[in-house]
Amino acid sequence: MDTAPHVMVLHGPNLNLLGAREPGIYGATTLPEIDRLLADAALARGATVECHQSNIEGVLIDHIHAAGKTAHAIVINPAAYTHTSVAIADALRAVKLPAVEVHLSNVHAREDYRRQSFVAAACVGTIGGFGARSYTLALEAVLDLLQANTVKRNP
Ligand code: DQA
Repeated sequence: MDTAPHVMVLHGPNLNLLGAREPGIYGATTLPEIDRLLADAALARGATVECHQSNIEGVLIDHIHAAGKTAHAIVINPAAYTHTSVAIADALRAVKLPAVEVHLSNVHAREDYRRQSFVAAACVGTIGGFGARSYTLALEAVLDLLQANTVKRNP
């Protein structure tokens, strides 16, 4: 890779309320704090991140399309769209960037409907259950992939 790795981070619906929203499940860290942690972690690796949050599926899809032109990888917490959105999965497949799905909570230890992800199959991997740390783990993982140049392209 000739330029510094650039990763687009996408946060889905209701994640703008982090800190106040069900803190027993999602923790006390706010979204601006998570974005700051990601920027610092990226800087330490000589990389950059750009972070976007939307409550609207189509806006997230537009960001994925833009990432196809401007970013080397995507870290995405699709939030509730994880369990419903064929469109987000299709967008990730369309742009052919390595993507990592992130969840703050362990979705497999919660309601049955959270165990299904339409998005996971369009990603190189999924990290969940570590609170805000899930995001930095996902960023490290995708930067490792880019650095090693061993990116498995989305199907
Ligand atoms: C979430 C898990 C989803 O099931 C839920 O709808 C969210 C957040 C998480 O980060 O744990 O909004 O993606």
